[in-house]
Formats: sequence, C-alpha cells, structure tokens
Amino acid sequence: PTSIQVGLLGMGTVGTGVFNVLMRNQSEIMRRAGCGIEVTMVADLDTERAKSLVGPNVQVVADARAIIANPDIAVVVELIGGYGIAKQLVLEAIEAGKHVVTANKALLAVHGTEIFAAAQRKGVMVAFEAAVAGGIPIIKALREGLSANRIEWVAGIINGTTNFILSEMRDKGLDFDVALKEAQRLGYAEADPTFDIQGVDAAHKAALMSAIAFGVPVQFEKAYIEGITALGAQDIRYAEQLGYRIKLLGITKKTAKGIELRVHPSLVPAKRLIANVEGAMNAVMVHCDALGTTLYYGKGAGSEPTASAVIADLVDIARLNTANAAQRVPYLAFQPDAIDNTPV
Ligand code: HSE
Repeated sequence: PTSIQVGLLGMGTVGTGVFNVLMRNQSEIMRRAGCGIEVTMVADLDTERAKSLVGPNVQVVADARAIIANPDIAVVVELIGGYGIAKQLVLEAIEAGKHVVTANKALLAVHGTEIFAAAQRKGVMVAFEAAVAGGIPIIKALREGLSANRIEWVAGIINGTTNFILSEMRDKGLDFDVALKEAQRLGYAEADPTFDIQGVDAAHKAALMSAIAFGVPVQFEKAYIEGITALGAQDIRYAEQLGYRIKLLGITKKTAKGIELRVHPSLVPAKRLIANVEGAMNAVMVHCDALGTTLYYGKGAGSEPTASAVIADLVDIARLNTANAAQRVPYLAFQPDAIDNTPV
C-alpha cells in the first residue's frame, strides 16, 4: 500500500504528540517505513477539542468502536490508559484483525498474557515500545539489539515522576507534596499519581522488561513493590553524606532460584552514571553475557518523547506491511530509492 491508515484512541498528551510528530516528520518517516503512515481517524470524548488539534482532514469520533469497525484502519493506537475500556477496545481491535500499538503499561502488565495470546491467534502485532521508559527504545534493545546475549539483569530508573520528586527534594529542598504537584503540572505523573509514588508504575514496566529479557510470562502480580512515600529529606541527606543517591529502581534478575522482580528505593553510589540521572529522565542498565553492561538514557515521559516510541512501532508495522521485501532494509536510515540529489 502507499500508506497505512491509523486510528488513534485518545487525543491527550501522547496522542497529540503522535499526531504532530507524524505530520512534522512525514517524509522521513515515510522513507523509513517504505510507505506512508496516516492518521485518518481519532476517537476522543471531547470531539471539539480533538477536532481543533487534528484539523479537517481527520475524522473525529466520540465512539472508539467506529474506528475498530472501519476496515480501512490497519492499526489502532490505544492511548486511553487504564485497565477498563482500554482492555475491551484493545481486544476488540485484535479481534477485528488490526495491529495494536499501545503505551499502556498498566494494561499489559496486568492483562498482557491474555492480550498477547489473542494477538497471536489473530496474527497481529501488539507493540508497546512507549509503555516502558517512554521514548527510550529499551524494548527494541532487549528484543533486537541484545538478541545474541543471555541477559542477566535489568535495573532502571523507569518512573520519571518519582525521579523528578527525589531530584527536587535533594537539589531544591522541596517538600514531597510540592515536588509531586510540579511533576503533575509538567504532565509526567499518571492520572492517578499513587501509581507513580507507590512504585506501581515502575513495577508495571519492570514486569514487561522481565518478560522480554527472560522469555517468561508477564508476572507483575509477583513483584515486590515499595515506592518513595516513606522517604524524607533526612534520608536523602544522609545518603548524600555517605556517598550515595537514593533512586527508585525497577530490577529484574535471573538467579539460581528463579527470576527476581522488584521495585524499591535503592542506594546507588554517587559516582555511578545512573546515580546522576536527574529530573524526569529515565535510564535503564542491562547486563548481559556477551556485551557486558549497557546503559540507555533519555526522556521517560511527555508528549513527543513518548510519541517517538509510538511512531517507531508504527514504522515497524508499516515495514511488515510493505509488499516489496527489497524495501525492507532496516539497517539503512533511509530506503535506497529515497536518495536524491535535490539541493536542500
Ligand atoms: N507516570 C510515568 C512516569 C509516565 O512518571 O514515568 C511515563 O510512563
């Protein structure tokens, strides 16, 4: 096809980012994908607001099922969040034979096994790069970049809100509540910020990384989870005096007894790179046998950083759909036929 049609469910922070980046980088994305990627439908309860964001060429509906019912839509991007209606819609989209891209870590951590099984039955993809560490391509690293390795452990700062709070408490001496409000204002926090501060959001992401790293089912329900709510200014100061930073880490590790999966505040030696990850940034360390330790750093939340990951999944799906296999040259930045000498 010359383009694949995409329906967005939810036109919030991330949906808006997806739409804007797709428009802005249209020609680059098209060359990389081997075909166009076009948002033709958007579902949002606030149709007026959504219309003002996408303009007249995109059909805006209040009922997401109008997108799932449209046979021209090849991919549904779920950006509603939560376990409720989002789960229903994802399953219905799969049932309708559509690929799904989602940033919904909560949904996949809790219902991933069911959703992935449904996708496998229907032969469609459920892609979720944006669900873990926002824009950082950590899923692709674990699944593709490190596929030669035996992965031994993964440990990361995978919740921007809590890292922001800890940074603000340390650097500016802000109170926990003030720092949390600021993280909410900046759009980092979950709709329900208790998921952030209690470590649940990080555990969702750690469970997904664990499943990919070790080839096991998503086992969020077995995670040990401790957030940052019990930490005070004194803890942060004492850690500092002893040469450590307190970081909320999501950890998964292969041991002789099984796979560890845990989230808790950790003392990290201040000299370590990961100890110096400040603000809403994320960083994930992966230790594996052939390559050793690698570190992936970048924005873990926000509109366009998360959109970057959503669109990378759309490009992957578009490549699958590209009829001409010769156009699939994933290690070139651009498709060969796109090189021209037009002066810029
Ligand atoms: N609430 C999340 C965070 C958003 O703070 O990291 C990105 O998943």
